[in-house]
Amino acid sequence: MNDQTPIFKTSQLEAADAEPRNMSANPTMGELISARFSRRGFLKGSLAVSAIAATVSPLAILTAGDAKAAGNSAFSFTEVEAGIDETHHVAEGYDADVLLRWGDGLFADAPEFDPANQSAAAQARQFGYNNDYVGYIPLDGSDEHGLLVVNHEYTNPHLMFPGLVTLAEGEITMNPLSKEQVDIELMAHGGTIVEIRKVDGKWQVVKDGQYNRRITAETEMLLTGPAAGHDRLKTNADATGTKVFGTINNCAGGVTPWGTYIMAEENIHGYFGGELPADHPEAANYDRLGLPEGSYEWANFYDRFDVSKEPNEPNRFGYIVEVDPMDPNSVPKKRTALGRFKHEGAESIVSKDGRVVFYLGDDERFDYVYKFVTAGTYNPDDRAANMDLLDEGTLYVAKFAEDGSMEWMPLVHGQGPLTEENGFASQADVVIETRRAADLLGATKMDRPEDIEPNGSNGKVYVMLTNNTRREADQVDAANPTAKNAFGHIIEIAETGGDFAAETGTWEILLKCGDPSIAEVGATFSTDTTANGWFGMPDNCAVDSDGRLWVSTDGNSPSATGRTDGLWAVDTEGDARATSKLFFRVPVGAEMCGPVFTDDGETLFLAVQHPGDGGDDWEGFGRPSYYEDLSTRWPDFDDAMPVRPSVVVVTKQGGGKIAV
Ligand code: FEO
Ligand code: CA
Ligand code: CA
Repeated sequence: MNDQTPIFKTSQLEAADAEPRNMSANPTMGELISARFSRRGFLKGSLAVSAIAATVSPLAILTAGDAKAAGNSAFSFTEVEAGIDETHHVAEGYDADVLLRWGDGLFADAPEFDPANQSAAAQARQFGYNNDYVGYIPLDGSDEHGLLVVNHEYTNPHLMFPGLVTLAEGEITMNPLSKEQVDIELMAHGGTIVEIRKVDGKWQVVKDGQYNRRITAETEMLLTGPAAGHDRLKTNADATGTKVFGTINNCAGGVTPWGTYIMAEENIHGYFGGELPADHPEAANYDRLGLPEGSYEWANFYDRFDVSKEPNEPNRFGYIVEVDPMDPNSVPKKRTALGRFKHEGAESIVSKDGRVVFYLGDDERFDYVYKFVTAGTYNPDDRAANMDLLDEGTLYVAKFAEDGSMEWMPLVHGQGPLTEENGFASQADVVIETRRAADLLGATKMDRPEDIEPNGSNGKVYVMLTNNTRREADQVDAANPTAKNAFGHIIEIAETGGDFAAETGTWEILLKCGDPSIAEVGATFSTDTTANGWFGMPDNCAVDSDGRLWVSTDGNSPSATGRTDGLWAVDTEGDARATSKLFFRVPVGAEMCGPVFTDDGETLFLAVQHPGDGGDDWEGFGRPSYYEDLSTRWPDFDDAMPVRPSVVVVTKQGGGKIAV
């Protein structure tokens, strides 16, 4: 999602379009900078592109072919040209093949995708919508045979269903969804686990593989950890407060060292409708999360999504979910110990003493960066011994100091302000209302924390902060130094002593994003970065097995940056630090998600999310995009097929490691 005005409200569920929810009075610090900022949003289509070319600085006029930076870049490839069109583009010498599309069958009995006659039953046996996180779990240690685990974050009904949009006198309206369409949405959410194999140099899906599984908004799950069984989690359907159906808005995620699949529940607020009385005990809790926002229509058909009927149901969402992919009948677990908020993802690393550290972003303007350190240690020789590590440990929230130091503050019941007097009777209350607990500790309000990735090669941690145009000049601080931060930034943390479990560290800004040729933007890409190499709105990221950082984006568009989203290779070391190069770009309207590499560095999986969702600001289309009139029909380019979110697999022609 990005900062543009939504055309279709129901598809616009990302935090970018929500009001900021952090009304706490935590002080902002230091350094006031000029609020003067000229956004080039008024520029459209080719005008934007030519205007960018005309204003590009002398530092950024290297051609794409010259992009192997003089400053010893760790990456070697010929850069893609930034721009906008209806398809994807990858660096020369690479193949980018579509591996899995929305609607592709995963089981022997899965019906062929028939978009005009889609059903919930068919969708439950097919690849879901809007692929976001992608993880690769090797089978028998193989880089050529494994399980792909993929989150399906949300649905775009105006792109999925025929006949939903009506045009009258130039005005666009969307008709209400039928129950069957809502049921298709439920089945299109969640995740996919699917076996894949490389045969003669090309990756294939193993249809009906023994591990293949769809997880949906109706899959039975267990709530575990400190909040499990608490009264605040009990509903009419579940007197135990431990059993919940489904997971929703699974954005990024992770794969644990013991090979389980992590799904992060992010923007849960849109799925709940109805109203709570203002004096309801959960009213303030829900308000802090923007609940209920009601942009989905599920509450029309399911009482559990109506807070006036099931006031506790939202307390059962907003968690980190752990799935054992090796047992298709395993019951996924919502691990409440890792807190409840708009979880972006949960990438992990084993610390020096064997405890496991999970980095967690809360994706909302002015919300926080967290980490969770397990109490127990990882046992590489006994997988079963690791399976409940996520139920015990310490959740911390970050405070970034102006002098470049930082502190991880524990969210532990009874410590500091987290007491009964402040409404926290136990650790269950602390995790259910994680944001309020972090407010009381005085955590640093960030510019929308997205993916956070530890790098075992250099001991650092990379925090993607996507943007925050609502930060005013008097709210800037050292870690969020840009007023009206339209293009985001990346923070690099160094944990004390190189110990990922440390409670202190230091930090610096790796990169302020945006067009470096416009002085007011204040971007800090290296001078070796070309006009194609800069980007805005960092969202997901990956660290490959050589310790190199790759950043994918959400929100670049003709009007925002004169380019689509994509995947950029970003140097972090030596002279080349903060040099960025464009490796892959998505079709119009799409967001780039899920970068993940196999350990041998020869395969890169990418997720193209919500292609065709937009294009009104692109001169090649110039009007709203919906099922009957799409800005792209990627990837099939068949008039009988809608646009389809898909996973793409990138390999080097002739084989070998990527970008070396
Ligand atoms: Fe779903 Fe924070 O992106
Ligand atoms: Ca994301
Ligand atoms: Ca996003």
